[in-house]
Amino acid sequence: MCGIFAYLNYLTPKSRQEVLDLLVTGLKRLEYRGYDSTGVAIDSLDNKDIVMVKRTGKVKVLEDAIKEHFSGGEYSEPVLTHMGIAHTRWATHGVPCERNSHPQRSDEGNSFVVVHNGIITNYNDVKTFLSKKGYEFESETDTEVFAKLVHHLWKKHPNYSFRELVEQAIQQVEGAFAIAVKSKHFPGECVASRRSSPLLVGIKTKTRLATDHIPILYGKDDKKPSCDQDVDSSKASVLPRSDSTSEFMPEQKEVEYFFASDASAVIEHTNRVIYLEDDDVAAVRNGILSIHRLKKSLDDPHAREITTLKMEIQQIMKGNYEYFMQKEIFEQPDSVVNTMRGRVRFDGQSIVLGGIKDYIPEIKRCRRLMLIGCGTSYHSAVATRQLLEELTELPVMVELASDFLDRNTPIFRDDVCFFISQSGETADTLMALRYCKQRGALIVGITNTVGSSICRESHCGVHINAGPEIGVASTKAYTSQFISLVMFALVMSEDRLSLQQRRLEILQGLSKLAEQIREVLKLDNKVRELAKDLYQHKSLLIMGRGYNFATCLEGALKVKELTYMHSEGIMAGELKHGPLALVDDSMPVLMIVLRDPVYVKCMNALQQVTSRKGCPIIICEEGDEETKTFSSRHLEIPRTVDCLQGILTVIPMQLLSYHIAVLRGCDVDCPRNLAKSVTVE
Ligand code: M6R
Repeated sequence: MCGIFAYLNYLTPKSRQEVLDLLVTGLKRLEYRGYDSTGVAIDSLDNKDIVMVKRTGKVKVLEDAIKEHFSGGEYSEPVLTHMGIAHTRWATHGVPCERNSHPQRSDEGNSFVVVHNGIITNYNDVKTFLSKKGYEFESETDTEVFAKLVHHLWKKHPNYSFRELVEQAIQQVEGAFAIAVKSKHFPGECVASRRSSPLLVGIKTKTRLATDHIPILYGKDDKKPSCDQDVDSSKASVLPRSDSTSEFMPEQKEVEYFFASDASAVIEHTNRVIYLEDDDVAAVRNGILSIHRLKKSLDDPHAREITTLKMEIQQIMKGNYEYFMQKEIFEQPDSVVNTMRGRVRFDGQSIVLGGIKDYIPEIKRCRRLMLIGCGTSYHSAVATRQLLEELTELPVMVELASDFLDRNTPIFRDDVCFFISQSGETADTLMALRYCKQRGALIVGITNTVGSSICRESHCGVHINAGPEIGVASTKAYTSQFISLVMFALVMSEDRLSLQQRRLEILQGLSKLAEQIREVLKLDNKVRELAKDLYQHKSLLIMGRGYNFATCLEGALKVKELTYMHSEGIMAGELKHGPLALVDDSMPVLMIVLRDPVYVKCMNALQQVTSRKGCPIIICEEGDEETKTFSSRHLEIPRTVDCLQGILTVIPMQLLSYHIAVLRGCDVDCPRNLAKSVTVE
């Protein structure tokens, strides 16, 4: 949650207006991470002060305010070196308002200003300590304590470098954070750090960098005691003061640096990035970037790699679509192929998952498989559990990450735990991963975001390769997660003779999937008409069972998050245990009834609904005249193998929730109260 963007141009002339344009564009790319308030900070015209503009609402509101505020010709004068920071917020501490927006400042003189993503859990302790030192707080945020803590340390240690001050401060705070700090006392410098929240640095130089890594510098004197143990004596750590011995310098003097919560904000400027690790402190001074760590642990690498991003800017632009979500729904014929590309050989009927192939023997020996995720990612596990049980012949547990952690679930060394996450940064999923890793389980990441925390902390994994997903509602990531898990099941059953026929029919199903998704997408107009019947209702019940129960859960989640209508995914077998009481002639119901092993049971449920005067919309198979007689409203989808049906049945649900949201005037890409990447527990 929250998007951080900072831009530093060194010996690269840019006017303040250009800098502001860059900051605003960066925020627009990150807006999916949170969008209740925004802010920027740049140098004042005389370079002696920091000017901040903050607004409640989306980046567009900030953009308009900036145009008004910085319209004078003096703002178009080029500045050789400058550093600006920007933020788009998803409120955790304090309501969305200008006062609580970031940047947060250290004092009325704006000595230090901070943008932050995450939650500082001991902020009350730090606040109490700083209040005793005379600091007065103007916001309800946890972030403000960080700005004031740096200021307090600066007053106490006037000779410390900017980086040392931030290093000292991060030693005092607990919780999750990614921060970027700007100071009027250290013009042209930036210090940034992360712990459990993502942050990367983009580097742009005129000619390609000759190096592909940046050495890490370690503190020398880790015995030096804290000067601020009084922050909270029970928790205060011994604060080392690090001392750099060498630094990284680009070959060219002119350089631009971008600090961002994710790569989509920097890709239009550079494809050379460094993903920071927990407790890295990245500092730019005199155009030189250095990465510091206070303590060296045995498995620490000596350097951080400079990664070349493969993503293209076009991949994150909306193109001719109204919304990113709509674009992402319609990308699915391609994204499912990309998930299988280079992995599935339809001619030789073989599958290779390069990221886990060396671990397959170990996985085959495991006690059980655990699939863990949140929201849509969890639903992809529900959708594929039955097939995994069938093809692996192992017990498969499917877990919501938050509930899994609440239960302190027993985990063993011979468990294999899959962590499914589009963003790869979801805090609950990441915490569950660390919990299982500590207990010795094998960790497999199923993510869409290269370089994400889940990716890096897994022993092995599968990139779903769905391409950037910007709309907060997950669509193409779901179908690609689904296919990744199906591919895994196929790999696990490769040498089982008795399963070859089944594998073959699934492979044939996969080979037709892109074309069948195109067919389903042609239902768009019909779905829009159905949405017109539904959008003024208060509720929508979605019923199904077997392979399509996950579609009911996922469809209901889409309807809830996009349209703010109540919606419930109901296991059809549970109808008579309660939900049937909801059914009458006015309750909107959608039922998935396909010709699979649970068809007869689904037909029973359908009859139970129609005999209570319910008039369900039915999703059925093309040409299934018998099922269609139960309702005048139906959507026909192509026939596929039972375990892949869920990929086709979820698409009408994605379209339906999209159209209802549009008709209700909801913000499709940025539903209220939500964010794309949930990096807080
Ligand atoms: O990035 P992740 O897949 O870990 O995110 C998990 C959920 O927050 C996410 O799927 C959420 O439920 C979606 N907004 C649903 O559309």
